[in-house]
Amino acid sequence: MSNDPSLKDKLAEDARELMALPGELHIDPLERKWIFVALGLIGVFVLAILYTAFAKHVHPPGEMETLDSARLHLGGEFAEDKLGVVTQPDGSVKVTLVAARYGFYPREIKIPAGQSITFRIASADVLHGIHVPMTNMSTMVVPGYASTVTTTFPKPGEYPMLCNEYCGMGHDHMWSKLTVVSQENWRSGLTNTQSTGR
Ligand code: CUA
Repeated sequence: MSNDPSLKDKLAEDARELMALPGELHIDPLERKWIFVALGLIGVFVLAILYTAFAKHVHPPGEMETLDSARLHLGGEFAEDKLGVVTQPDGSVKVTLVAARYGFYPREIKIPAGQSITFRIASADVLHGIHVPMTNMSTMVVPGYASTVTTTFPKPGEYPMLCNEYCGMGHDHMWSKLTVVSQENWRSGLTNTQSTGR
């Protein structure tokens, strides 16, 4: 069979075509168009990732920090009496939350606008996601891991904190209230709290 000249020619031609430079390769015009469409789409996706990363500061969780989700309530950072909003000695604000079917606890939190807020979130049961619509606050809350998000809410107002990972029958109802107050209201709130001795 290998002596068949026509097959030999055919194989040689195939080999030449394979070795040919891309410019010499025959590409159907329609196929060429779709190659550019596909490359263009990849370019758009890469630009979108770069834009959200550098202009909007949307990052995946960086550090890997493990914890025991079943023993959260027994002590440590995510014990019930440690949850909520705390102003640190340096003036920064830290919010500690537990995500559990079906809510983020505490159910209502109040934070100041226009300053960096660090959220620490842990799941007490299954996979949840925390998302505040129209802001860049969004992360997964994976059981066994602590999630940390540092962000700023420029606009005062009331926001829902929603769960965006399906976590069970009550998933649709899993949300809590986030109130962002102006810096003035935040500061007067702090002095009120201090004057009442709390
Ligand atoms: Cu929690 Cu969906």
